[in-house]
Amino acid sequence: MEKVYFSMQAKIYFESGGLEKYLPEIKNYGRKVLIVSGKNFIFRSGLYDRLSKILSDRKIEQVLYSDVNPEPDTYDVERGSRICRKENCDCILAVGGGSAIDVGKSIAVLSTNSGAIRDYFGEREYENEPLPVIAVPTTCGTGSEVTRFAVIVDREGRTKKTISSEKIIPKMSILDSDLLQTLPQKLVMATGMDAFSHSAESFLSARADHISKLFAKDSLKLLKKFLPEAYREPDNVNARERIFLASLLAGFSINRTGTIVVHGMGYSLTIKRNIHHGTANAILLPYVFEYLKENGYGEEISELEEILGDTGKLKNFVHDIGLPSTLKETGFTQGDIDELSELSVIGTQRSQKNMKIQMNRDNFKKILQDAL
Ligand SMILES: [Fe+2]
Repeated sequence: MEKVYFSMQAKIYFESGGLEKYLPEIKNYGRKVLIVSGKNFIFRSGLYDRLSKILSDRKIEQVLYSDVNPEPDTYDVERGSRICRKENCDCILAVGGGSAIDVGKSIAVLSTNSGAIRDYFGEREYENEPLPVIAVPTTCGTGSEVTRFAVIVDREGRTKKTISSEKIIPKMSILDSDLLQTLPQKLVMATGMDAFSHSAESFLSARADHISKLFAKDSLKLLKKFLPEAYREPDNVNARERIFLASLLAGFSINRTGTIVVHGMGYSLTIKRNIHHGTANAILLPYVFEYLKENGYGEEISELEEILGDTGKLKNFVHDIGLPSTLKETGFTQGDIDELSELSVIGTQRSQKNMKIQMNRDNFKKILQDAL
C-alpha cells in the first residue's frame, strides 16, 4: 500500500458572510497588516470598506498595496515588498484572485529575506520565516488560499515561475461566498475552469495518492454539475457557492501533487497574448487529454471518464459555458504555433516531473496544432 503524508497547518473558514465573523482573528497573526490586492474589484465591490472597518474596529493598523496587476510579475512583488519593509508590516492580508494571493505570499518571503524574488523560485530554504499570510479569495479558481505555491511571471525568462514552500501556505483563509456573487459571469467560468484543470491535472499527476484523488474527484463532480448551472442561471447563489467549494478542494489536491503539462503550456498563451490563466487551461485541457489518452494515460483517463463522461466532449463543455474552445477564437494563427511550442517547453520544465511520460517540442506542437 502507498505511503501517506498529510500536513495542513492552515485554518479554513468557508461560510457566507464569514468575513466579519472570522477576520478579527487576524490579530493573532500581526499588529500591522499589509493589504495586498488588485486595483479595481476590492473598491468597486465595497470589500475594501468592509475590511478596513473590521481592522480599525480592532485597532489593527493597516497599509494598502492595491497595485497588483493581473498576471503579476516580479516587479509587482518587489514594489509591494518595499512598502511592506518601509511600513514595518508584520502580516499580509491577500485579497483577490490568484494574482493578489500569490503576490501576497511572495511579499511575505521577500520582506523577511534578502535578495530578489527571482532568488526564491523553486523550492528554496529561507533564512528567515516569511510573514504570516491571511487569504481572502474573491474568485473561484486559484486554490492559492490553501497551497504551497505562488506563481509569478518572469518577464526575462518569458515564462511563469513558481515559489514553492509549506512556509507560504496561508495561516488562515476565509472563503466568504458572498464575495463571489458580484463576480462577472465570465470570470466565474474562467476561474472555475482553472479549478477544473487543477483537479484533472492533479488526478493525472505521478504524485497523486488516495487523498489527493478524493479531493480531485469530488471537485470535478461539483464543477461538472455546477459550472453549466451557474452559466445558465447567473443569479443562482447555490451554484456559485458550490464552484467556490470545488476550487478549494482542487487547491487541496494540487497542493499535494502539483499540476501536469496543461498549466505549463497555458503559460505560453498568457505570455504571448495575455490570455486569462483559467481560459488558457480551459482551451488546452481537452486537447492534452486527447493526446495523453493515446500516449500512456489510457487507464487514468478512463477512470476520470467515470466522473466526467466522454472526455472527447470536453471541448463542447468548455464552449457551452461561454469560453473559447480553440486557439483561433483567441486570435492565435498558424504562425504562432512554433513559438508557442517553444514556450511550452520552457513552461513545462517543472511539471514534467509530475508526468509518467516526457514530452518534447514536437509533442506540444501536435497538441497546439489540434487546439488551433
Ligand atoms: Fe491554475
